[in-house]
Amino acid sequence: MMATRAPQRPARAAADRSEPARSAETGRDFEFTTADFARIRDLIHRVAGISLSDHKRDMAYSRLARRLRARGIDTFRQYLDLLEAENDPLEWEAFTNALTTNLTAFFREAHHFPILAEFVRRRAQPVSVWCSAASTGEEPYSIAMTLIEALGESGARQASVFATDIDTQVLAKAEAGVYQFDQVKHLSPERLKRFFLKGTGAHAGMVKVRPEVRALVRFGQLNLTDRDYQLRTQFDAIFCRNVMIYFDKPTQGQVLTRFEPLMKAGGLLFAGHSENFTYVTQAFRLRGQTVYELTRDAGGAHPPARAGAQHASGVAA
Ligand SMILES: C[S@@+](CC[C@H](N)C(=O)[O-])C[C@H]1O[C@@H](n2cnc3c(N)ncnc32)[C@H](O)[C@@H]1O
Repeated sequence: MMATRAPQRPARAAADRSEPARSAETGRDFEFTTADFARIRDLIHRVAGISLSDHKRDMAYSRLARRLRARGIDTFRQYLDLLEAENDPLEWEAFTNALTTNLTAFFREAHHFPILAEFVRRRAQPVSVWCSAASTGEEPYSIAMTLIEALGESGARQASVFATDIDTQVLAKAEAGVYQFDQVKHLSPERLKRFFLKGTGAHAGMVKVRPEVRALVRFGQLNLTDRDYQLRTQFDAIFCRNVMIYFDKPTQGQVLTRFEPLMKAGGLLFAGHSENFTYVTQAFRLRGQTVYELTRDAGGAHPPARAGAQHASGVAA
């Protein structure tokens, strides 16, 4: 796993032709030009593959304004100049952390978890699952809970969930495994009792994921746009949900190409509700309900391509 890498210095021509600052009109604390936003978009795309759309301009301002305050810098242009000139991995990390969107929930897109449970029961044990955009931990812990429900406490003991994200701040929260009760109140009483400890005293209103669940999950930083993930293992299933929506099609294709050798034969890839990989890769085909399976057979060969074979959609599992 590597620290967030600094991108190549982007072309500055656009920045030099920028329109005047909007800060005076908007009452913002810092000058923030169209060219600054263009430069931020370029940099975050290079560092994390994230394509920031136009309507993320205010979000970029408010999230990065904190960095300007922390560094005592007056304008975005100065901050971005410093970011590139210093090339400090910690500032790049803070820049990246500021621009990720981390929305997640326990058992989000709930239909995936019975599919995972059924799948792992049929697999050779021990099973391993990679949760590749783990955010604050709700998703990898939901996977671990599903493994325990499907395999039993002792059956799941050898199972593993590898949980990664580019954002170091969310990973720290994920590792702590502490949440507001509000975030789990929609879970069944059985799950609440079995998988969470209730906070008391100063921790009232909080819950902590039980150690038996946390023991299954290992966290690490991993940038999905890195050329080599440095993983020397294969997974039965990969969860890659609600992150590809931030990537352009070529980046999505590259990520899926890197996933393929990391999956065991017959492995499953779980995607987010609005993500469709059908047109992006030949390596996976839709099995149904945003779950994909490898097209390669157990011997590693791909079936011959059929015209239109990758264009099926909504096939039931
Ligand atoms: C919207 S959250 C989705 C969380 C979870 N997978 C879910 O569906 O609930 C997207 C996550 O992707 C992470 N992310 C964005 N770019 C990434 C990259 N290049 N490599 C790894 N993770 C990335 C963000 O930090 C964020 O935590």
